[in-house]
Amino acid sequence: ILYKTINLVKKTGKFIRNEQQNITENKVESKGLHNLVTYVDKTAEKQLVDGLSAILPEAGFITEEQTAVETKDTYNWIVDPLDGTTNYVHGLFPVAISIALQERGKTILGIVYELGLNEMFYAVKDCPAYLNGNEIHISQTLEVTNSLIATGFPYYDYNRLDSYMDSFVYFMKNSRGLRRLGSAATDLVYVACGRFDSFYEYGLSPWDVAAGAFIVERAGGKVCDFSGEGNYIFGREIVATNNGIYKEFLDIITNFFRIDA
Ligand code: 2AM
Ligand code: CA
Repeated sequence: ILYKTINLVKKTGKFIRNEQQNITENKVESKGLHNLVTYVDKTAEKQLVDGLSAILPEAGFITEEQTAVETKDTYNWIVDPLDGTTNYVHGLFPVAISIALQERGKTILGIVYELGLNEMFYAVKDCPAYLNGNEIHISQTLEVTNSLIATGFPYYDYNRLDSYMDSFVYFMKNSRGLRRLGSAATDLVYVACGRFDSFYEYGLSPWDVAAGAFIVERAGGKVCDFSGEGNYIFGREIVATNNGIYKEFLDIITNFFRIDA
């Protein structure tokens, strides 16, 4: 299943990359406040859904563009055909395809294909995580003050903005710096391979995080929600870190977001 899925993802990746020069403002639709979608998102998703249905006919789907809506009891694919659409329509990277497979609610396979650097990240249950065929591991950093942190800015749920900004200021002063790439799937796999020491964001959807979070875990890292619990796929808040800074980082997040809970 893994290799068939990787081949499918490569094919759809080629389509997405080829279409990037054809994207103009009049082809961009708006799904809501600041939420862009293009015919590329939808066409790519259709391609993936068709291909995945052939690979595992008994599986259901949770997908961003809703080209397939039926979930099933045992197996479900969680699909984001294009993570980083805002980057994409502005001619920027990273842009990624994110696909997870769940068995009875537990992820057993994750693939994140970042098109800008042509990097295929993947993992399956009980095995290490890989980047283009080489095993990857989280970073060894032991203190937040020596860490590089990825995040995403709130873009619709502004109720927690004050807490977010407080955490942002704290990390600005107490870390090596913050990065905001615009693709949560990419942020997560960059934690998995040790480029980032941690990542946090709220307001994300299952398809943004399911595959990347699984790859972080298979690379030896930790993933949780803002309370340190396991509700990070459907819970709209996620922290992913290496082992060394896990406790310190989570304590900081829990403290800043406590008042919103
Ligand atoms: P998307 O491109 O698949 O929508 C960036 O912080 C993350 O949030 C991305 O994974 C992005 O996924 C998601 N996101 C959804 N809507 C967004 C928006 N309007 N602006 C920025 N990111 C958005
Ligand atoms: Ca998307």
